[in-house]
Amino acid sequence: MTAKRELYEELARQARGLFAGERDAVANAANLSALLWQTLPDLNWAGFYFLKGRELVLGPFQGKPACVRIALGKGVCGTAAASAKTVLVPDVHRFAGHIACDAASNSELAAPLIADGRALGVLDLDSPLFGRFDAEDGAGIEALARLWARASDRF
Ligand code: SME
Repeated sequence: MTAKRELYEELARQARGLFAGERDAVANAANLSALLWQTLPDLNWAGFYFLKGRELVLGPFQGKPACVRIALGKGVCGTAAASAKTVLVPDVHRFAGHIACDAASNSELAAPLIADGRALGVLDLDSPLFGRFDAEDGAGIEALARLWARASDRF
C-alpha cells in the first residue's frame, strides 16, 4: 500500500473516532475540517460548502475567510456539486470559472457530499502548490466525505 493510502486510512480511522456517538452534521464537519487541516501537508484551505436551494453556502472550514455563496454549477465547488463527481484541478488558473477566494491557491480538490444518491454539498481542499492533489487524494477525500454523510443527520 502506498504511503498516501495509509495516510487516508489513518485519517478515516480518526474521523470514525471523532464521529462516534455524534450525529450533528455541523459539529462533524467542523471536526473533519480541523483533522484534515492538522494532518494533510501543503493546504491553505480545508472545509465544507452545503447546498441550500440552488446555492452552496459556506460551512465549517479551516484557513482564511472564504466566499460565502457559490451558485450550483459555478467554480470548482459548484461543478463538483452539480455533477456529484469529484473535481481535481492541478492548476486553478486554467480552470474556466474558478472562484479565487485566496490568491495563494494554485490547485484544488472538491469532492461531493452524497446522501440518498444526491449531492448535499462539497468537501473542498485548496493548496498553494500546483498539482498538489492526485487520484489517491481524490479517493481518500471521497471516502472521508462518505464517512461524514453516513455519520451525520441531515439538516
Ligand atoms: N475555489 C473554489 C471556491 C471555494 S474556495 O476555494 C474556499 C471554487 O472555484 O469553487
